[in-house]
Amino acid sequence: MALREIQKFPAPVLKKKTAPVSVFDENLQKLIDDMVETMYAAPGVGLAAPQVGVSKSLAVIDISSRDEKYPLIVLINPCIVRTDGEIEFEEGCLSIPEYTAKVRRSENLIVRAHDREGREFEIDAGGLLAIALQHEIDHLEGLLLIDRISPLKREFFKKRFKKAQKSEK
Ligand code: NI
Repeated sequence: MALREIQKFPAPVLKKKTAPVSVFDENLQKLIDDMVETMYAAPGVGLAAPQVGVSKSLAVIDISSRDEKYPLIVLINPCIVRTDGEIEFEEGCLSIPEYTAKVRRSENLIVRAHDREGREFEIDAGGLLAIALQHEIDHLEGLLLIDRISPLKREFFKKRFKKAQKSEK
């Protein structure tokens, strides 16, 4: 296993819709293992393939540090089949360091996906897991949490980002 470099905003790969995974070979297993290791090292509760520069429909989630009953989830080619309710939660993202924002999401949802062996499964999730699933599935669509906030807040984020970049130079 190896750590992969985490892509940060505004890396173009983060804005791209990913391609579905069609081959469940050794390379995919290695990528998954690397992503899991990179997520734990960060540390984070989720990581999507574009965040390590790979534009594929694959993400890993582990919220067990906050809610023990959920083990590691490997999510391949996920799609949301049902949603209900609404919830607002302060989210962060490994690709946007030192930034959090309140994002409105569905409170409950059912997601259909494939596991690392290519078997189809369904998750019926609520609360933090539902939020994590939507955050990671957004990454696979080329969306970041800053695409989910109000235009005003987004402007504020961009100004802050530009200012931070300038002071780094
Ligand atoms: Ni993220």
